[in-house]
Amino acid sequence: MKRIAVLTSGGDAPGMNAAIRAVVRTANYHHIEVYGVERGYEGLIEGDLKMMSRRSVSDTIQRGGTILKTARSEAFTTYDGRRKAAEALSDRGVEGLVVIGGDGSLRGANDLYREFGVKVIGLPGTIDNDLGYTDRTIGFDTAVNTAISAINCLRDTMSSHERVVVVQVMGRRSGEIALHAGLAGGAEVILVPEKPVDYDEVASILNRGKAVGKTSGIVVLAEGAAPLEETMKELSERTGLSLKSTVLGYIQRGGSPTMADRVLASRLGVRAVELLKENKGGLAVGVKNGAVVALPIGEALAIKPFFDEELYEQAKILSL
Ligand code: F6P
Repeated sequence: MKRIAVLTSGGDAPGMNAAIRAVVRTANYHHIEVYGVERGYEGLIEGDLKMMSRRSVSDTIQRGGTILKTARSEAFTTYDGRRKAAEALSDRGVEGLVVIGGDGSLRGANDLYREFGVKVIGLPGTIDNDLGYTDRTIGFDTAVNTAISAINCLRDTMSSHERVVVVQVMGRRSGEIALHAGLAGGAEVILVPEKPVDYDEVASILNRGKAVGKTSGIVVLAEGAAPLEETMKELSERTGLSLKSTVLGYIQRGGSPTMADRVLASRLGVRAVELLKENKGGLAVGVKNGAVVALPIGEALAIKPFFDEELYEQAKILSL
């Protein structure tokens, strides 16, 4: 393979730049030319590609966001859009494509592979950690650490004012960010979409805390578990506590990636190019039990996201 392209798609995630850097530099090492595609599939359809060199990715490993920009493309969900995308690659003699994104982006990558034979390698780039084929997605570790820092700050002020705060974190249909940030932030309650929300139980935990002398508290609410307004209303009605709420929102998507995300992104980026060099395509690359793995994208996406029941139970014990 002589020429490849790389793009980031869907919601950005810290570590995407480290992955782009790894793709560009590994390709360069193997004397393969690399195009960077601007704005994900949207830019690909519009033919927005630029040649990249080792230097194009200097000073990027520590930066959040994505230097290639990203988008959620409506056009790419159509056959015609994907045809245009495939043509934009073949017009430039591009034989392989690395897609860094979440499940929707990897699904699109698979369509491009199946319908037009584009050799695509997918890397898991999302803060949500909701892809079952990989233990970790690029960006998750940073997002969780950002959430923990925010929870630490909230604990200070909640403790001063003797309040309880409901902190809403991202994750779409996944409770991974909530579970990990909640446990590591010492939350009193963690609400995740993988478990039914029982307001009576939450209220009794908070009331019990009050009875044993706790004057403040943290409830971490995954955005997919229940609407924030509903949670506030239901808990206010059931407790006599001074309740406040904070939505962490997009703050979780930014910031300098942690060591874990930089290393993960670098390892996966290197492997993606090695697979393309071997003329392979249609594969999703991830990490399982510490080892880099590659499996057909369709198979990878069919694996249900893992929810750590044991960790969830341990978090409950520790919050009592
Ligand atoms: O998938 C990443 C994510 O940040 C989710 O956690 C969140 O629900 C969603 O993207 C927000 O999407 P948008 O950037 O389109 O608002």
